[in-house]
Amino acid sequence: MCGIIGCAGRDGETLDVLVHGLSKLEYRGYDSAGVALAGSDLDVCKTAGEIDDLRAALEERSPSGSVGIGHTRWSTHGPPTDENAHPHLDCNREVAVVHNGIIENYQALRDELSTAGHEFRSDTDTEVVPHLIEDALADGADPEEAVREAIARLEGSYAVSVVMSGVDRIFAARNDSPLVLGIDDEAYYLASDVPAFRDHTDRVIYLADGEFAVVDADGYRVTTLDGEPVEKTVDTVDWDPEETGKSGYDHFMLKEIHEQPRALRQCLRGRVDELAGQVDLADLGDLSPRGIHLVACGTSYHAAVYAAQLFQQAGIPAQAFLASEYATSPPPIGDALVIGVTQSGETADTLSALREARKRGARTLAVTNTVGSTAARECDHAMYIRAGPEIGVAATKTFSSQIAALNLLALAITSVGDAREVISGLRDLPGAVQEILDTSTARKIAEAYRDAESYFFIGRGLHYPVALEGALKMKEITYKHAEGFAAGELKHGPLALVTQDTPVFAIVTGDDEQATKTVGNVKEVEARDAPVVAVTDGASDVERYADHVLEVPDTHRRVAAVVANVQLQLVAYHTADMLGRSIDKPRNLAKSVTVE
Ligand code: F6R
Repeated sequence: MCGIIGCAGRDGETLDVLVHGLSKLEYRGYDSAGVALAGSDLDVCKTAGEIDDLRAALEERSPSGSVGIGHTRWSTHGPPTDENAHPHLDCNREVAVVHNGIIENYQALRDELSTAGHEFRSDTDTEVVPHLIEDALADGADPEEAVREAIARLEGSYAVSVVMSGVDRIFAARNDSPLVLGIDDEAYYLASDVPAFRDHTDRVIYLADGEFAVVDADGYRVTTLDGEPVEKTVDTVDWDPEETGKSGYDHFMLKEIHEQPRALRQCLRGRVDELAGQVDLADLGDLSPRGIHLVACGTSYHAAVYAAQLFQQAGIPAQAFLASEYATSPPPIGDALVIGVTQSGETADTLSALREARKRGARTLAVTNTVGSTAARECDHAMYIRAGPEIGVAATKTFSSQIAALNLLALAITSVGDAREVISGLRDLPGAVQEILDTSTARKIAEAYRDAESYFFIGRGLHYPVALEGALKMKEITYKHAEGFAAGELKHGPLALVTQDTPVFAIVTGDDEQATKTVGNVKEVEARDAPVVAVTDGASDVERYADHVLEVPDTHRRVAAVVANVQLQLVAYHTADMLGRSIDKPRNLAKSVTVE
């Protein structure tokens, strides 16, 4: 999804800071990029394609200026072309604007501005903004007033940054789209996400909806859109810039898969008392829910499906919902606690579902990786999964940390009989994941089945969401068809698709009734000649019916889902690697999906 960077106070280096910042935002997904620098003139360079294409364009002409803004665009209105790339300009080429989000009333504004004689050069919704500013300037407003007046006319979601020729300031505003200020001793930064400037500073200010910032080489000022001063606190981010580099791994995804033991330890740190068999989430206050709705998308939805089972097992009526469905057709909420599970905390569908729940009087809790994210700020409560920044578009470590965090939450708000065993299972989890990372034979499986056109994943109970997640990972980074099923459902239709060309990954741990029944389903696919890969701890006899085995250590049944999933992450990763796919930035996908 789109990314913004801005910089004031780095004379002579502004362009480098902007381009470096854009490269740090690549993980959000984009299809064009551009920069604008303002000094006595306004200098703009933008192009469809990748940051390297922008670098190439900049070699021919290097804009200079004391303040600047940059943008990576992920198309929403109009295709990825040079013209549609940001920054967008007014008719006089004196105002440059970058924007994330969607301006819902842009068509009406564009019609009005076109009738008044403005010439549009792009298909974007964003381009109305510089033209509105141009009009306000022509009517005598000073630069700051002109930007405020323009912003006041926008409906929808936006993080906007503006520079103008002859003005050594950046103006910025946000509504429903993140924007954060960075402060170091001599310079100031603006970005849609901290990694854009984290190499320069760890001191940040999160802007809230309806706020307006003015940034120059000497400082910053934050007000409401109407100009009322707002006191902001400066936060310190607690992760290292190193964490956003690849540290020798070929891909961020692989690095993040390997970071899981550490991420899990961070999630658990200070929250469990093993001796007492208790979890301490006192900072969440008293939740005591009578019912729970979990809303989420994609991988986070799979974590939500898993968590709903935990709460149900503890006697609390709980259900997981796709956030996009919940937002437009919510079920009766009653006095349920509504939990948004969202790595980024910025997913538009999840925010919309949470807002709908709040409108209906529900209490809300964000389970998120991103401190200061919109979900964290808007919900009544926030629980952080502490996985550290995840750059690869495909979620890996955040899924594992979500599962760990939701286990803690379930222990904290329900009285589960075997709390001590669950806690000790959680304590052993980082080591079990490490064991898989050290011994996995997933690469061999990838070699064996890299040419298959279709993959199926089956599991029951807590392994059902793992089957869904295994399939999602496979399809998003290999571009091959993959589907996850509740193991018992296979015979109700999908079995018709099972042939000797469709590898079936079966997740079976333990030797309880669920395991026995899943082994029965494995026999059904084996009888249709499908190759079977069993992801198993060896407790059942599933290996007898499998062509390959991916071993997982013997763990508590609650955490077996995480370790099994790590094997599937590795299979998807190696398959995509062998196929030469763009693993960290799969086609058509974005890290943070900020549109509905
Ligand atoms: C898949 C993936 C997506 C996200 C989904 C929700 O690998 O990353 O399916 O899980 O877009 O994102 P968050 O968790 O940020 O709300």
